[in-house]
Amino acid sequence: MKNDRRTIVLIGFMGSGKTTIGIRLSYLLKMPVEDTDKWIERKNGCTISEIFEKQGEEVFREKETQLLRELAETRFARILSVGGGTPLREENRELLKRCGTVVYLRVRPETVFQRLKGDSSRPLLQCADPLGRIRELLAQRGDKYEACADMIIDVDEKTEAECADRIIKELEKNNE
Ligand code: S3P
Repeated sequence: MKNDRRTIVLIGFMGSGKTTIGIRLSYLLKMPVEDTDKWIERKNGCTISEIFEKQGEEVFREKETQLLRELAETRFARILSVGGGTPLREENRELLKRCGTVVYLRVRPETVFQRLKGDSSRPLLQCADPLGRIRELLAQRGDKYEACADMIIDVDEKTEAECADRIIKELEKNNE
């Protein structure tokens, strides 16, 4: 594999496996991994839920864009997993592409629901009908995820290790 060590950017809905697949890729490719949600939490000294609750979603979205602007300026190759809503802004989609190779982890609503049942860390899913909300958000977002993806991986029937292997194989193919 000709390895030009580009950053790999993982995008996809909540529960698509961005964080765990990112860690696995980091281990296999021996590249550092960073998660923008965790970065924002560290920088602000509070959780994403607290930012949503105290400052509102728009403030959080601005923080996401600001961080992406900084990341797009660095030439440091890494695995980057970003929040599920990051690709919604057009500016962010441009910035994501500038950061590196964008991999969209595509997931079905039912899979997300099963994986995130009982999770209280996603403010957007704290509602009476989380499955309905997941369906609605995924329907709104699917095109945006696809619009900035260099590669799409369907994750539903695969383990996280299989997804990571598939990503590496596809990258190798593209580098041949
Ligand atoms: C969000 C996804 C979350 C987090 C925030 C908003 C979204 O990240 O950024 O709760 O809009 O889909 P994960 O995709 O890592 O859960």
